[in-house]
Amino acid sequence: MSVAKKEYKRVTVKSLVDMKKNGEKISMLTAYDYSMAKIVDAANVDVILVGDSASNVMAGHETTLPITLDQMIYHAQSVIRAVDRALVVVDIPFGSYQSDPKEALRSAIRIMKESGAHAVKVEGGAEIKESVKRILAAGIPVMGHLGLTPQSIYKFGTYTVRAKEEEEAEQLIEDAKLLEKLGCFAIVVEKIPAQLTKKVSESLSIPTIGIGGGKYADGQVLVVHDLLGMTHEFNPRFLRRYMNLYEEMGNAIGQYVADVKSRDFPSDDEQY
Ligand code: KIV
Repeated sequence: MSVAKKEYKRVTVKSLVDMKKNGEKISMLTAYDYSMAKIVDAANVDVILVGDSASNVMAGHETTLPITLDQMIYHAQSVIRAVDRALVVVDIPFGSYQSDPKEALRSAIRIMKESGAHAVKVEGGAEIKESVKRILAAGIPVMGHLGLTPQSIYKFGTYTVRAKEEEEAEQLIEDAKLLEKLGCFAIVVEKIPAQLTKKVSESLSIPTIGIGGGKYADGQVLVVHDLLGMTHEFNPRFLRRYMNLYEEMGNAIGQYVADVKSRDFPSDDEQY
């Protein structure tokens, strides 16, 4: 379907719901620092997610669990300084919202106040209902995240596709409806069957944003380092790499090393 795109000078949570209504797909990408966020924003990505995947791609941890609230705020501050157009959503990290709704609200407030972000994201459904309610009641927009929720990786035990069985699929649909009813403005659906994404998307008026959720999601999200091919050992089926920066950057840096060693760099023109 070809869709006449409306221009959004500044993307808001309301713009995303409008995009779904108008049949315009939503683009979302991660960024964790100023320089990358500048490029992503200038390319007209609708939503920038300061994801807790920073724990993996920026800090080298195996999971998203170790990253702290302070570290997420640091990343979010850097991103916010770069962004003119995109909606900036920040993950509340593991351990900063699950234990009680008051702590969840305190964490969300710190993110909003100290970084200037526009919204927060949390993982889970019914089990975090009270926390979601509390954050929303303070006027902070919340994005949900269902399906493969990496903060629960030790419960799942693997990163394989979620909700293939009827019971888990039904639960996911219930959770999605609950998050919408509570007032969430969008929901990430990660690594679930495409037909389930279709069902969820059709049963909600708020947008779904898929990562490994297939073509029926109202929008798509990827980790920017994966899209650019800066990571090269992570090769899930859902990932489309648009560049091979791992190789290109390695070659450029290798050339620099060779030029220094051979005294080719700096040349007469590159000195004072
Ligand atoms: O942290 C992250 O990058 C995410 C995306 C995978 C949706 O949550």
